Amino acid sequence: MADTGEAYGVVRDGLVAVVDGRITWVGPARAVPRELTAGTSRTLDGGGGWLTPGLIDCHTHLVFAGTRADEFEMRLRGMTYEEIARAGGGIQSTVTATRAATEEQLCDASEWRLESIAAHGVTTVEIKSGYGLDVDTELRMLRVARALGERLPVRVSRTLLAAHALPSEYRDRRDAYLDLVCATMIPHAVAERLAHAVDAFCEGIAFTVAECARVFDAAAAHGLPVRLHADQLSPFGGAELAARYRARSADHLEYATEAGCRALAAAGTTAVLLPGAYYTLGESRRPPVDALRRHGVPIAVATDLNPGSSPVTSPLLAMNMACVLFGLTPEEALAGMTRQAAPVLGLQGEVGVVSPGACADLALWDVDHPSELSYWIGANPCRVVVRGGEVHDPRK
Ligand code: NIG
Ligand code: FE
Repeated sequence: MADTGEAYGVVRDGLVAVVDGRITWVGPARAVPRELTAGTSRTLDGGGGWLTPGLIDCHTHLVFAGTRADEFEMRLRGMTYEEIARAGGGIQSTVTATRAATEEQLCDASEWRLESIAAHGVTTVEIKSGYGLDVDTELRMLRVARALGERLPVRVSRTLLAAHALPSEYRDRRDAYLDLVCATMIPHAVAERLAHAVDAFCEGIAFTVAECARVFDAAAAHGLPVRLHADQLSPFGGAELAARYRARSADHLEYATEAGCRALAAAGTTAVLLPGAYYTLGESRRPPVDALRRHGVPIAVATDLNPGSSPVTSPLLAMNMACVLFGLTPEEALAGMTRQAAPVLGLQGEVGVVSPGACADLALWDVDHPSELSYWIGANPCRVVVRGGEVHDPRK
């Protein structure tokens, strides 16, 4: 959608011209220059549907083995996410299953999750490592993420999240694990061109502000941008740290402070809201959406698809939750899964907009108004996906 002044940037009875996988013209069909239509090789009739940028799910952990359905039952009986993590479950249990899986097994186990996301109009997805926590498995996860992007018509952006949890074999040797992350994992991921960015989990059950800063310093030394799981379960100074490093994003942010929001705005860091985790963990503390808006922090929305805190395989459900649980408008939710998500992956101008010069990554929806993308619960009105100018049936 273009910047037309109308809500959602709506262009009515619009036409999008595509040449070699890129958008060359957008506007009302009646205004299209004749020379553009003269040499057209293929026309796709939208049939009264709505065309949006292909959605961008900018925060997922969709490569992993096993599930954590047992922990879902434990939480329903009253245990908390943190108690389960401290008792050796949580991320550590997915690490055990993921380490035991071969590259092919991991790929096969994860493919349906990417298929589900893609079927809901997503053309760009970010996938993190973080369930390996050793050199081999972290790199294997990133290779699997790359392979999945070759199997399906989705652009995959890969993030090294080796600082997701302290692996049990490093208990009481925190610095040694961080040495491994900084001196071995990051350089290897860079050498193999496996990572586009580095992420860390800044929290009482994960890594301190100082420890995450070490990881960020190593990322910067290797020219990789950073992002942070920040202030999810407690006010931990995560937003301030993300801002100090000019992180591309600070994610979760339920406990971010006013000062943290101000710092994010000054740094140009995007707030990525993850209502699936808030919902699944039965949290009651919402991210400070009003403060984010007041300070002008760009807001993105993502599924956070992961086996522990957000088994959400529908980006539209995440948008619905962002509206119902966090008070975003449907327009903000759609922007959060398109235009606002692109810079989180360093892809601004490339995806997330329907503008000349951008990649022809589009989704066509059987709805009467774009607000319906956030309104329906459990439906999938995506009719057609276009990725780099190629047309795909999202149901196949
Ligand atoms: O984004 N917060 C940390 N990481 C994930 C959860 C990972 C897990 O529980 O497996 C998240 O919510
Ligand atoms: Fe996450």
